[in-house]
Amino acid sequence: MPDRYLRFTQSGPGRFVTRRLGLPQPAPLHRWSAERPVLDGPLLHLTAGKTTVEPAAVLARAGLPVHTSRQAGARYAAVVVDATGAGDVAALREVYDGLHPVLRSLTDDARVVVLGSAPDPTDHHQAAAQQALEGFVRSLGKEIGRGRTAHLLRLAPASAGAAESTLRFLLSPRSAYVSGQVIGIEAAEDATVPGDWDRPLDGRTALVTGAARGIGAAVAETLARYGARLVCLDVPQAEADVRAVAERLGGQALTLDITAPDAGERIAAALPDGLDVLVHNAGITRDRRLANMAADRWDSVLDVNLASVLRTTDHLLAAGTLRRGTGRIVATASIAGIAGNTGQTNYAASKAGIIGLVRSLAPRAAEEHGVTVNAVAPGFIETKMTAAVPLFIREAGRRMNSLGQGGLPVDVAETIAWLASPASGGVNGQVVRVCGQSLLGA
Ligand SMILES: NC(=O)c1ccc[n+]([C@@H]2O[C@H](COP(=O)([O-])OP(=O)(O)OC[C@H]3O[C@@H](n4cnc5c(N)ncnc54)[C@H](O)[C@@H]3O)[C@@H](O)[C@H]2O)c1
Repeated sequence: MPDRYLRFTQSGPGRFVTRRLGLPQPAPLHRWSAERPVLDGPLLHLTAGKTTVEPAAVLARAGLPVHTSRQAGARYAAVVVDATGAGDVAALREVYDGLHPVLRSLTDDARVVVLGSAPDPTDHHQAAAQQALEGFVRSLGKEIGRGRTAHLLRLAPASAGAAESTLRFLLSPRSAYVSGQVIGIEAAEDATVPGDWDRPLDGRTALVTGAARGIGAAVAETLARYGARLVCLDVPQAEADVRAVAERLGGQALTLDITAPDAGERIAAALPDGLDVLVHNAGITRDRRLANMAADRWDSVLDVNLASVLRTTDHLLAAGTLRRGTGRIVATASIAGIAGNTGQTNYAASKAGIIGLVRSLAPRAAEEHGVTVNAVAPGFIETKMTAAVPLFIREAGRRMNSLGQGGLPVDVAETIAWLASPASGGVNGQVVRVCGQSLLGA
């Protein structure tokens, strides 16, 4: 179902009418393409207080010309404010001083990234200043909106190297539909630098569940574009579709129901040489208000979306199928698992469960298996599933976010590809929303 409103607002009369009525003015997003692979302008690198990470070298490699002070007439595609050393309210004023004058000279696809530190439980002044950055960035994302985004990266000391894959992602068109996120980065011992940043998954194997269509097919396609060899899994009923996706990508199809008790064993058997990237994408909805929900609707959603993810993850970690160092697990949550949704107690429970799984398992999986565990939480993504949503709810889903439009499957796929990169070893236990900064659960 195409977004006709977005097209209408791009026409002369559409712009006039929607402005007069004070209606949302979404801008077409600048997504990655081979023709337009980078943002349209220079990057301004500012520092508020003392830096604890020294990001200059990493920023210099992000693909944009870097300025360290504001130049007259420049329109900035990115502003990075290093506030890692901000330990008091006075340092917050430096963040204001740095950003306030440049906000009117941002390009239409600009990114604002504030670098911060984890709030220190032993220093309430530092914790106050660092937590303040979260409210600041989330508000700024809502203000600059349209095609522009804002984020807070919380960097562990000396983790600039480990943050490179994340900075490259956020400072590129690949993150077009991600805004208002707070992402923690640890200093990864084995942060691998890819030989080619355009193909970080060269020589890696990735398995995507639910790859026959929708978001899963886009994830498989995107991981293949980054160099991965794909195993595309879906139910036997979707065999023709999943084979078509796998064949197109030069990969392999695996038809099995992820809820089968032996699914983990069968996946491990199909991957005798091991697996680098496991993407838990398969998911279903069986909506009803709880009072009207038959037990089979509860059971099927909890089984596909959560229990099977727990079972297969446990099996593949225990079997050593996921490779130490480059092993990446990315699960799919949803903003429904954060905000809740009428008619979706089963679905929201399953997706909130994914967030619990990720946060608990991530530190142990890194320690014991050398594997990271993260989740994406998509908002309103234009798929067959959301095309079936009644018009009024669909329009609300599309507009109630800072970018005023729905995302595309490729937006979720690009985010998963960043988390799946061997260079993203410092990103662990994170839940990254791909929702255009949806107001739901904000
Ligand atoms: N579309 C959205 O707006 C949106 C928003 C938030 C989260 N999500 C999540 O993203 C994921 C993909 O969503 P989508 O919109 O592409 O859905 P979709 O229904 O288009 O595709 C899901 C795929 O999973 C497969 N699948 C279902 N049960 C399976 C099982 N037991 N074993 C193996 N495969 C199975 C289906 O056959 C299908 O190919 C889901 O986890 C969904 O909950 C989607």
